[in-house]
Amino acid sequence: MNERRLSTAPMMGFTDRHCRYLFRLLAPNAVVYTEMVTTGALIYGDAPRFLKHHPSETPSAFQLGGSDPDDLTVCARMVEDAGFSEVNLNVGCPSNRVQAGHMGACLMITPEVVADCIDRMRTAVKIPVTVKCRIGIDDYDSYDFFARFVDKVAEGGCRVFVIHARKAILAGLSAKENRLVPPLRYDYVYQIKREFPHLTFVLNGGLTACDQIQAVLPNVDGVMIGREAYHNPMFLAQLDSMLFESAQEPANPFEIADQYLHYMQADAEHVPAQRHAQDVLFTKPARHLLGLFRGMPGAKDFRRHVGTSISQPSAGIESIQHALELLNREGSIRC
Ligand SMILES: Cc1cc2nc3c(=O)[nH]c(=O)nc-3n(C[C@H](O)[C@H](O)[C@H](O)COP(=O)(O)O)c2cc1C
Repeated sequence: MNERRLSTAPMMGFTDRHCRYLFRLLAPNAVVYTEMVTTGALIYGDAPRFLKHHPSETPSAFQLGGSDPDDLTVCARMVEDAGFSEVNLNVGCPSNRVQAGHMGACLMITPEVVADCIDRMRTAVKIPVTVKCRIGIDDYDSYDFFARFVDKVAEGGCRVFVIHARKAILAGLSAKENRLVPPLRYDYVYQIKREFPHLTFVLNGGLTACDQIQAVLPNVDGVMIGREAYHNPMFLAQLDSMLFESAQEPANPFEIADQYLHYMQADAEHVPAQRHAQDVLFTKPARHLLGLFRGMPGAKDFRRHVGTSISQPSAGIESIQHALELLNREGSIRC
């Protein structure tokens, strides 16, 4: 079985370690990606906080933002030592701040720099070093430009490419608009797979339905799901059992919620006393449950209840347990 058939996307501000734990409960076979962490943040910031993760997360990929081969090498070693199964370089983020730091999508124009970074990281670690990129940037949007990028970066030793199948527009569109406005071009990704069959290509962008994913999968090695996985987590459970032909029943959202609440309780016991803020102990992990019951009777009440209680100083796990009672346990979810 191809272990890259399903991945969850890196999403800054969303895919923290709690979210990844929830994704693992839902999708036992998926590769889960961290948020992007810049090399500067990892080297000079609170590295233990960024690198902390639950053992059950494995296989998990840590995404780095940077373009300095020395810094990336240091960070790749930190990521490997922390127990992650893959290190991924962000070559797709279009935000102004990321561009200013000479990171993300703007690197697509200098594939030799990306290739050098990959080569240096590969020699420093044993875990796979992979790239997540777009199909182009600005007016560099031809298939040939994209193919040259892949070819050059593969020369640096990259064997796995996650492709967000739309170009990035670096001036004039926000990061959010850059996930919506440039059209999706799955055909570029299908063609690159045909041209480089020995490389692994994971398709990302706009994948929101099981039948759509079944239709794209013969053309690529795997799919990566971002917003739909976060806002409708049960979709991930459905996909995991569909793609891995699991003999088990797809996860039940109530059981998932119970397991996640146990996790929250156990995790809170390990948070150092100086970080015992409501935000750290409760708000951050609890918000990931908001979409869990989407489509079920009572889901809106659950969402409203959890949404209003999570920021209140007195809220705790019992607030979520109370919200769970607003749901109809007989309701079912279909992909
Ligand atoms: C809130 C948010 C934050 C994101 N942060 C990152 C990031 O840190 N690194 C990255 O490579 N992509 C990031 N992305 C892009 C996603 O990984 C993905 O490429 C994009 O959302 C398209 O996939 P989707 O249509 O399945 O959501 C982010 C997307 C969202 C919505």
